[in-house]
Amino acid sequence: MITEQKYIPVCEPCLDGNEKKYVMDCMETGWISSSGKYVKAFEESFSAYCDCNYGVAVCNGTVSLHLALTALGIGKGDEVIIPNFTMIASAYAVCYTGAKPVFVDADADTWNIDTNKIEEKITKNTKAIMPVHIFGNPCNMSKIEEIAKKYNLYIIEDAAEAHGALYNGKKVGSFSDIASFSFFANKNLTTGEGGMVVMKDENYYDKCRYLKNMSFPINAPRIYQHDDIGFNYRMSNIHAAIGLAQVEKADEYRDMRIKNHNLYKKYLSEVDGITFQKDEENSLNVNWMNTILLDTKKYGHSKEELIEHLKNNGVDTRLLFTGMHRQKCLLDFGCNCQGEYPVTDNLTQNGFYLPSASNLSEDDIKYICNLIKEF
Ligand SMILES: Cc1ncc(COP(=O)(O)O)c(C=O)c1O
Repeated sequence: MITEQKYIPVCEPCLDGNEKKYVMDCMETGWISSSGKYVKAFEESFSAYCDCNYGVAVCNGTVSLHLALTALGIGKGDEVIIPNFTMIASAYAVCYTGAKPVFVDADADTWNIDTNKIEEKITKNTKAIMPVHIFGNPCNMSKIEEIAKKYNLYIIEDAAEAHGALYNGKKVGSFSDIASFSFFANKNLTTGEGGMVVMKDENYYDKCRYLKNMSFPINAPRIYQHDDIGFNYRMSNIHAAIGLAQVEKADEYRDMRIKNHNLYKKYLSEVDGITFQKDEENSLNVNWMNTILLDTKKYGHSKEELIEHLKNNGVDTRLLFTGMHRQKCLLDFGCNCQGEYPVTDNLTQNGFYLPSASNLSEDDIKYICNLIKEF
């Protein structure tokens, strides 16, 4: 008898609510473009979930960042402070505007931007700080708000990985002039591909709606005369239909992610040489990914050996981001990639993700942890 090899993917979406019903409604009524009731309904429900007044749905979390920066008027000659340890989309979005990303190393415990190192990177050209709530862990927003106020800077949260996370009891996304989310398939909430900017200010809302849709006038008859360069960043009604169903289960998915993370911590607690990300104080980390940092000497095997062992036993993993200071494309763009970023380099060299889907079973988590323990 051939036994089927076990396979646990790194992160599958959970689509067990009204997704199919709403998508079928789009198909049956023919509303499949960005015109259609689900786009507005998704924008309203997700922005309310973030304690914001407005949301503008777009086609992914990279253009969402670009839209936020552009709506705030950031462009050539400006600098934007971003964490060095992030997904490259944060840096790309700044580059698309013509502005320059300036990097700050991560905090060794929380892996978020080290708020004690932000001020030394501020120059007369700095226009904004773009904190990233890495792996769902909210940044120290009190400190970031204090610095932004002192230097008169915009805050744009890159909350791509942190749907529903809380800092001081407030939702991430609500600390910004304009905040940005991703709904890629591995995120806690997904539309397959998708993104959204959320905000409290109606002027920014209008600006984002205008720029996202080719700079067509938003409150006037459509004429084909354009005053500004715009973008086609529209989200389709089908994607928004999935998004609306996801928001209906947002707290449930969040709690599943947190529960799974606590199980990983419990079952790996006696393994020497394994560290987890530390939650930011006064926050609720939504644990987008279960990431571990390996101390090879204490554990007895290298990261590569452990990843290979997991792979041979059907467990998928992913490497962590490489620091922005090591990205050739940013060097070519004129970014200052000099300097030491030891925390980022340590995370890149010694960290990786374990399977993290919301609906992972406790048995699967036990199986993965036993493989790590017994190796
Ligand atoms: C921190 C961060 N910012 C931005 C993005 C970009 O989102 P998208 O893949 O939807 O373009 C991602 C994607 O994972 C991300 O992790």
